[in-house]
Amino acid sequence: MTKTVLIVDDEADMAFALEESLKRVGFQPTVFHNAADVLQKVNPADFSLIITDMKMPRMTGIEFLQEIRRRGIFVPVIVITGFGTVQNAVDAMKLGATDYVMKPFSFDALQATIDRIMPPDEPAVISESRSMKAILTLAREVAKSDITVLLTGESGTGKEVIARAIHRHSHRIGKPFVAVNCAAISESLLESELFGHEKGAFTGAADRRIGKFELANHGTLLLDEISEMAPSLQAKLLRAIQEREIDRIGGKAPVPLDVRIISTTNRDLPLEVKQGKFREDLYYRLNVFPMELPPLRDRQDDIIPLARFFLQRLAQKMGRALCLSPELADYLLKQSWRGNVRELENFIYRTAVVSGTDMLQPPTVSAASASEPFSAEPSSPQQGGTIKDMERQMIVMALRETAGNRTRTAEQLGLSVRTIRNKIKEYAISDAEIAG
Ligand SMILES: Nc1ncnc2c1ncn2[C@@H]1O[C@H](COP(=O)(O)OP(=O)(O)OP(=O)(O)O)[C@@H](O)[C@H]1O
Ligand SMILES: [Mg+2]
Repeated sequence: MTKTVLIVDDEADMAFALEESLKRVGFQPTVFHNAADVLQKVNPADFSLIITDMKMPRMTGIEFLQEIRRRGIFVPVIVITGFGTVQNAVDAMKLGATDYVMKPFSFDALQATIDRIMPPDEPAVISESRSMKAILTLAREVAKSDITVLLTGESGTGKEVIARAIHRHSHRIGKPFVAVNCAAISESLLESELFGHEKGAFTGAADRRIGKFELANHGTLLLDEISEMAPSLQAKLLRAIQEREIDRIGGKAPVPLDVRIISTTNRDLPLEVKQGKFREDLYYRLNVFPMELPPLRDRQDDIIPLARFFLQRLAQKMGRALCLSPELADYLLKQSWRGNVRELENFIYRTAVVSGTDMLQPPTVSAASASEPFSAEPSSPQQGGTIKDMERQMIVMALRETAGNRTRTAEQLGLSVRTIRNKIKEYAISDAEIAG
């Protein structure tokens, strides 16, 4: 995807130099020589990045910046300030500039600033269905405030994708996005992972460690699979959210923090509350703004666009002109995709890798049964037996490669540890089978 940049500078030479350099690193620049024109002729929200000079006639960079932010547009803005006007830079930052560069500057310095504030590979969020479009609109809305979001939905529906989108559309863009998987870490480690510890806080704490909360300061903290958090930690998390400060283990004083919290779960949290497994007060703190991602099978309009998107990404990597055959498109629409977008993504990759031709065909019955040496139990056809069979085999293979290590298997397949555990149960994969 091409990144667009809006350059605003009254000095034609400077603007031209910026334009040329940014083109060379893959940007698509649009140049204006005064800010008032910009506001009349284009929508600043349409750009991936804005670079503006400060000292300009008619409208200064500061006024321009203020107007952009007043309109609720959070595109990152880099201001260029003259030598010896540090105060200007400070003012600009207070008014919502993402960063600044001081004249005279080298292009490398500007590039470093850009790299810092823009993730190099901005992930696209495919949303052709009405429900996903609504969710993206909502994500942009909630991004404007610091409201705490709880994302629910089955595994693989795109909860992390949406969490990242909220972060990118918020004023916290350019600040850290830190994700913690509460299911993958043991209770004792999770506390220090989240809150950090001082040197010597407990046996084995040889050095001070900064926790994820502190790492996420001024940015966004994603608490993945929040339902898996132990009760003692739930209490500490509640305190952190209420007091906006954390205690490092063994620390002397609390550390104040400014962090936006997004949590996810694929469990029924109200039920967990009823069963006494999840703190009710914490639930209300986290569930300020709930967003539910629908399963892929309930948004058919996303299936083909997602498949094309994954295919295109793969085609670029493999240097092949991959495309979907009408038969495969048909097949994709008929599957139930219980693993949601992640399952579709993995399916597309597998199909492309084994396909001898660029036009991908649906798996044939014989190929499917050949790839399924363990016919432990027949999958029900309405659940898309072929894909389930392949999935089962992939998991068994990954488990064998990692000698049964769930965490590493999960990493290899891009699934959560919980999902792996569930799948092992669901597919009745035994230790004997893993051992081969
Ligand atoms: N709308 C989308 N557009 C593009 N890619 C998507 C979209 N939704 C999901 N994906 C891709 O599908 C995969 C799964 O998405 P994600 O990790 O966000 O799911 P999740 O809901 O967090 O799953 P889990 O509960 O297992 O953690 C990722 O590789 C992600 O990039
Ligand atoms: Mg996730």
